[in-house]
Parts: sequence; C-alpha cells; structure tokens
Amino acid sequence: MLNFEFKNPTKIIFGKGEIKKVSKEIPTGAKVLVLYGAGSIKANGVYDQVMEALKGFEVLEFSGIPANPEYEVLMQALKVIKDEKVTYMLAVGGGSVIDGVKFLSAAALYDGDQPWDILTQNIRTEKGLPFASVLTLPATGSEMNSGAVITRKETQEKLAMGGPGLFPEFSILDPEVIKSIPKRQLVNGVTDAFTHVLEQYMTYPAGAHLQDRFAESILQTLIEVGPKVIENPGDYEAAANFMWSCTMALNGLIQKGVPTDWAVHAMGHELTALFGIDHARTLAIIAPSHYRYNFEAKKEKLAQYGQRVWGITSGSIDDIANAAIARTEDFFHSMEINTALSEYTDDYEGTAQKISKRFTERGWLGLGEHKTLSPSDVEKIVEMSY
Ligand code: NZQ
Ligand code: ZN
Repeated sequence: MLNFEFKNPTKIIFGKGEIKKVSKEIPTGAKVLVLYGAGSIKANGVYDQVMEALKGFEVLEFSGIPANPEYEVLMQALKVIKDEKVTYMLAVGGGSVIDGVKFLSAAALYDGDQPWDILTQNIRTEKGLPFASVLTLPATGSEMNSGAVITRKETQEKLAMGGPGLFPEFSILDPEVIKSIPKRQLVNGVTDAFTHVLEQYMTYPAGAHLQDRFAESILQTLIEVGPKVIENPGDYEAAANFMWSCTMALNGLIQKGVPTDWAVHAMGHELTALFGIDHARTLAIIAPSHYRYNFEAKKEKLAQYGQRVWGITSGSIDDIANAAIARTEDFFHSMEINTALSEYTDDYEGTAQKISKRFTERGWLGLGEHKTLSPSDVEKIVEMSY
C-alpha cells in the first residue's frame, strides 16, 4: 500500500426529508446565494423545500447554470456575488451546478485578472468562499469532493480544477430527489460512478486489500441497484444505495494508498468539449478501448475485477481479463449506452489527432498510473473508440 493522507471535511446529511436541515447548517446572518440549473428543482418540489428552509436568511438566486457548467454563465454569477457581497453559496443540483459553484467559490477570492487562469494554470484553491450543496442527481461525487470541471464553449475547452478549499461544507443527500430524474440522466449517473471506481482501481496490484474490496463492493452495488433505480426511480431502497454508492465512488476514500489512472476522464472530457456528448457516455466510449490498449499493464486487476465483481472463474488470467472488458461493455449496452464514437456523431474523423495535439500543447505527455501514456497512445485509443 502506498503512503497517504486523508481528510474529507464535508458533512453529509443523508435521508428522506432532510433538506429542511439546511437552516441549521448555514451560519446565522449569512447572505445566501442559491444557485441552480434550468429549473428541474421547481418542478419536483426541491426548490420549495430549500426556500422554506432558508426562511429568516437574506436570500438571492441565480438560475440557468447549464449541464457542463459554462464559464460565460458563471462569470455573470460572479458579478452578482461581488456586487451583492454574498457570503455563502448553496448549490442545488447535480454535478454541473455544484462544480459551477466550486468555480465561483475559487473565483470570488481570486485576485488575478482572469479567473479562467485558475483552470489553465492549475491554480489550487486553498481557501474559497464557503458553500454547501443539496444534491439532486447522484453521479459525480462532487457533493463530497474538492474537484470541478468547467466548460468554455468559446474555445471548446473543458478543464478541471480543485484544491482543499473547495470541499462543500455540507451536502444534503435526500434519495427522494431521484424520483424525478429522467432515465437518460439515471443511466449517466450509474455509468459515471462505475467509471470513477474503475479509474481508481484498474491499474496494477498495490497490496491495498481493503481499498480493492471497497472499490469492488461499490461496483457490485451499482450493478445490483443501477437497473432497479433506472426501472423505478421511486424504489427508495435502490435509490438510497445508488446515491450513497455514487458519493463513495469519488469522495477520495477508495483512491488512498493506491495508484490511479484518470486517463479515461481526460480523453472523455475532450469528447464533451468537441461534440457535447454527455460526460458519462464519453467514458463508456473510451474505457473499453483504453483497457484493451493497456491490456498487459492492467490485466492482473482486470482479472481480479472479472473474478470478484462479475464472477468469471474459468480460463487463464488473459481470458478472464478479456471477458471482464466484454462484461463491462455489455453492462453499458444493457443500459442503452452506446460505446462507439460513431454512434454519437458522423463527424468523428480526425478526432484522435485533434485530441492528441491538444494534449501535446498542454504538456500532458504522460497520463495514467505509470505517467507513460503519451499523446500518440491517446491518439490510438481514441481511434479504437470510433
Ligand atoms: O438543469 P437542471 O434543471 O438542474 O436539470 C438537470 C440537467 O438537465 C437534470 N437534473 C438534475 N437533477 C434532477 C434533474 N432532472 C430531474 N430531476 C432531478 N432531481 O439533469 C441534467 C444533468 O445534470 P448535470 O448536473 O449536468 O449532471 P451530472 O451530475 O452528471 O454532472 C455532470 C458534470 O459534472 C462533471 C462532468 O464533467 C459534467 O460537467 N464531473 C464532475 C466531477 C467532480 N466534480 O468530481 C467528476 C466527474 O467525473 C465529472 O467530470
Ligand atoms: Zn466522471
């Protein structure tokens, strides 16, 4: 097991009817900006619950943060924060709204000229404007981690940022919010969380037995409850297990003491930036090719996953590892997720070269757990995903 430090300061308040506790967690006298997306929270009653809980606070609102939170829109919110001297932000939404609020948390206290530099220059945020979240879509784990991914349409970029100052102070996870989530987003949530676990697990054996079993148990739980929740989002037991699995998949715990990969996400983000494909679907496009391309380096963990998660017992290590990749693809297909880029766009020719060129320009010359995946490897993997 590798050395590690672990601190996650986000308080989780989990369960049915818990949104009302917002009032107890926000400091008295705070001037609160509530931020949300296109308005699903108004249709499903979450907005009313939040506003009821915020009675007694001075409250402002900012709506319209789009999926794949857009820099230009966030800059409008930043103006409100500065003009109105907001002291606390409450993100009510999925990963996009929470990530957008993380960017704002950093940008509000940033003293450089261009907040976009936080993303392009990898500026870690040690201290941000305080914020919390009410999660409406389990998927990203953003509610309990300190990372964010921001999109800029103008330049077709999608870049990550983070830092210890960007953990939500608290997050409320009420599984009843899942009832109103459209099937497409539920499927995305299962796929994103599943791939988060794979990114922190599908590397090489590191003698971290407990982390491996945490990871495997999250995968098994998602395989068990994912189809149930997609079939019936009102199934509270399935919804609760789905929600907690998504949070646990990316709150930092399972990556401690083990090598991590994250190349699937790096390539996937480019597909969203270039084609607007949903984040989770970009992962399903890239992951199978990534595991096939890096088969020799990853086959021991692939086989362990095949045995323990999918119950594949017969054959050699190579056979089981290959079958495990196929089962993963079948799982995505069973949720009606396409795994070839050409099924999403006709305009895919040249994508691999474009992505590899971007990585070279950014100096991303060695990705993956061994930091050896070069832009030319990336080109081949993306090409295999057409
Ligand atoms: O705009 P609203 O009205 O909120 O509607 C949203 C949106 O259209 C809707 N929705 C959310 N909760 C709902 C609901 N509809 C009905 N009922 C509800 N309860 O779902 C749509 C998608 O929402 P979005 O927040 O975009 O989805 P998700 O949570 O999958 O977030 C995706 C974003 O997170 C980033 C992705 O790159 C992408 O930009 N990620 C963030 C990570 C992190 N911070 O750690 C890690 C991930 O790997 C990922 O990169
Ligand atoms: Zn993801």
